Amino acid sequence: MPLRNAASFPLAVVLAVLGVAPAAGLSDGLLYVTCGSVIKLQSYSGTQHCLHSHDISYGQGSGQQSVTGFAGVDAANSLWRVVGNEQCIQGARIANDELIRLQHLGTRRWLHSHAFASPLSGYQEVSCFGRDAVSDAADLWHVELDGPSELWLADAAVRLRHNVSGTYLANHAVAYQRPIAGHTEVFAVKGNANSAQTRWRATQGVFL
Ligand SMILES: *[C@@H]1O[C@H](CO)[C@@H](O)[C@H](O)[C@H]1NC(C)=O
Repeated sequence: MPLRNAASFPLAVVLAVLGVAPAAGLSDGLLYVTCGSVIKLQSYSGTQHCLHSHDISYGQGSGQQSVTGFAGVDAANSLWRVVGNEQCIQGARIANDELIRLQHLGTRRWLHSHAFASPLSGYQEVSCFGRDAVSDAADLWHVELDGPSELWLADAAVRLRHNVSGTYLANHAVAYQRPIAGHTEVFAVKGNANSAQTRWRATQGVFL
């Protein structure tokens, strides 16, 4: 399926914006996550790690690019661009249950999941896959808002449900060894998942 809204958003521009105005108003007003927002996704009440990826492949499973939880400072590799399913007007607010894709800013690949076992716990693997104009149905996630708002707000609790498999994006304190020591496992898990594992918040990015 061709992705119509994969217009590039140069990393240098994003970082320049971050340097000038890093989410200054995050806690003193309503900040909506919108189509085109560049966000960090932080574990809401679990590890507090941020969703992270990097040019390191899984040594097993799919062998695709690994996705982890990470507490360290590595701006480009913990930033994700929010893109709609097909039609998505830049700046449009994201509503509860809307389908989105998340593009990893550092490598331009898409947050993806599929029927491989995750490396440390044997849950469903989450990887980064594709490139700007190459994306498939396994890159689609529903935004599930926990709070009263019908629109996705920064700092609010959110779960991301993988459309194809119905699993939830999750993270827990099970950590990798070298060469990514300290990174924790990100995976996808079915149904009655422990909410501390599956709740996230959008934080510290560029909100359009
Ligand atoms: C979402 O998943 C359902 C169930 O697997 C499928 O029928 C539907 O086509 C998917 N939506 C998209 C946009 O791929």
